[in-house]
Amino acid sequence: MAILKIARMGHPVLKRVAEPISDPTSAEVRRLVSDMLDTLEDADGTGLAAPQVHVPRRIVMFYVAGTRARRAAAADEPAKAQGPSGTAPPTSMEGKDEGEDEDEPEVPLTVLINPLVEPLSDETAVGWESCLSVPGLAGQVPRHRAVRYRGLNLRGEEIVREARGFHARVVQHECDHLDGVLYPQRMSDLSTLAFTSEMAARTGAPVREE
Ligand code: NI
Repeated sequence: MAILKIARMGHPVLKRVAEPISDPTSAEVRRLVSDMLDTLEDADGTGLAAPQVHVPRRIVMFYVAGTRARRAAAADEPAKAQGPSGTAPPTSMEGKDEGEDEDEPEVPLTVLINPLVEPLSDETAVGWESCLSVPGLAGQVPRHRAVRYRGLNLRGEEIVREARGFHARVVQHECDHLDGVLYPQRMSDLSTLAFTSEMAARTGAPVREE
């Protein structure tokens, strides 16, 4: 088990385009993914991309709790920086429109190697995001509401899925890391960028971080 150091905004590894993986089944990739899983669990996050642990390769991982599970967790836990999915008004990462408030199924922990994301329509939704590489902050980010994504698993098999709402948001956020893009660069209204501790102090509600 190894918990890796997480790169923070400003580190060059977060700005570059990551390299593809040539052999998803290699021992090297398996070891990196294992360490990334430990790191993600330790940080209590929802998603992680390899550049965030200083490895400029095209690997992402994420987990999406079902909507009910996220709401329950947010209600139970004290204000604490963790996980991508806040539920507190106005700090919910579920987004402020009905599209991301629909009950969503849980998405099991997924490792994607060399992922590709394509929008399924021009429709976008605005929702709260935060990032382990941008600690302490959250902001509202427009994202495609529905996407199709594909990538390889550790056995080299292709995964193809369609995602909507928060699931689609998490995938877009993580895959952006592979192209050197952090969520503040996607924001259309920088006035919503805020310290989660300030938001929690004002709403008394928990704020979660990815
Ligand atoms: Ni991130």
